[in-house]
Amino acid sequence: MIIFLVGFMGSGKSTVGQSLAGRLGYSFVDMDARLEGEQGMTINEIFEKLGEKAFRDMENNLLKEMVSLQDTVISTGGGLPCTGNNMDLINRKGVSIYLRMDPAALLNRLSRGKSRRPLIRHLSRQELETFIYEMLREREPVYLRAHHTINGLNFKMDELLEVL
Ligand code: S3P
Repeated sequence: MIIFLVGFMGSGKSTVGQSLAGRLGYSFVDMDARLEGEQGMTINEIFEKLGEKAFRDMENNLLKEMVSLQDTVISTGGGLPCTGNNMDLINRKGVSIYLRMDPAALLNRLSRGKSRRPLIRHLSRQELETFIYEMLREREPVYLRAHHTINGLNFKMDELLEVL
């Protein structure tokens, strides 16, 4: 089985994914970290040097490789499910989990974690708040197509294990 964690930037996909993989005895792949390793650049550098379109193409190609894995938990970048037919592919090939977090919690977490995220690193707190509200409105309908939605803020591993 492949388990895909989807959700907005800052919702805790990598942390949850890593401990979920540990609990299940599965492998863990963080797609952003994998792309950084393959390219020898940070996500910020990929956006700066090659542009967002090139990054999205890389993400799409990596997803196509990932879907043939077995017994793996995959943490996806926040934009991946919302590009092309990726959410369909994710749902067809694996079990998907949306780690849901409300905008206020995301604002708190992302104010601290924005420097390594190219889409938000230059935003003031006010701009970040607007960005989160608007982007979440656009993206959440896609995230909500996941097989399961889990509360990211008050996350309990046992609840997640129960729905799988
Ligand atoms: C992005 C989310 C990031 C990373 C890139 C773009 C997005 O991943 O893929 O900065 O479009 O939401 P995280 O969700 O792990 O922060």
